Amino acid sequence: MAILGPSGCGKSTLLNLLSGFLRPQSGHITIDGVPVVPEHPVLGYVFQSPNLFPWLSVLENVRFGLRMNRRGSTQEQRAAAQHFLRLVGLEEQAHEPPHRLSGGQRQRVALARSLALEPRLLLMDEPFAALDALTRASLNDELLRIWSGWGKTVLFITHDIDEAIYLADRVLVLGLPPTGITAEVAIDLPRPRDQRGTRANPLFAQLREQLSEEIAKVMTSNQPVT
Ligand SMILES: Nc1ncnc2c1ncn2[C@@H]1O[C@H](COP(=O)(O)OP(=O)(O)OP(=O)(O)O)[C@@H](O)[C@H]1O
Ligand SMILES: [Mg+2]
Repeated sequence: MAILGPSGCGKSTLLNLLSGFLRPQSGHITIDGVPVVPEHPVLGYVFQSPNLFPWLSVLENVRFGLRMNRRGSTQEQRAAAQHFLRLVGLEEQAHEPPHRLSGGQRQRVALARSLALEPRLLLMDEPFAALDALTRASLNDELLRIWSGWGKTVLFITHDIDEAIYLADRVLVLGLPPTGITAEVAIDLPRPRDQRGTRANPLFAQLREQLSEEIAKVMTSNQPVT
């Protein structure tokens, strides 16, 4: 599921509410009947910047959450971290410090780190927004590949219409406060998706048009909260 909306419409706020980092002023959010807290065992996050510990190796960064949660022995934690690094194609960089990695590689480490905790719901807040177009496209493909073998829910926040269409089964458009969700669009593009084939599908252009219109409506009909 992708959540699409213009800058300042409250996407990150929504994600912070869903993850329990922020408390809603009214109502409550639960998963399986349990109120959300940041340590909720089913949640994982990837944010816009990877926030790796510079003094830990790539492997130790991925292992960190497992260590904190005391999941398994040291050896099991290392093996799990290796496994998830392999999944994101960074097996060979396991013993490097983060500063030796490119921006895209660091974001892959952040992805491996959240996957290592085996969340059932992965919350991603514009995780690839800071990357160049080519790196972003390849990380989109990598995310789809990992997700298809994993079968868990990913909630992906973006302000990029094409990225939302390429990744998601459903796109929600978020209006400026205090409107909330203004549209829900089903993305019936076939899977597996690939950059050239999927983008060349006439439905892709049609969905882009439809979502652009929805965003334009948001921009013209609402005023931001002052
Ligand atoms: N529903 C809301 N009611 C009142 N204020 C809100 C609401 N949602 C967000 N805000 C406020 O609007 C500001 C921007 O929100 P937020 O950072 O979530 O936007 P965003 O959509 O993630 O923007 P960007 O695309 O730039 O990251 C924040 O100060 C936040 O507190
Ligand atoms: Mg944001």
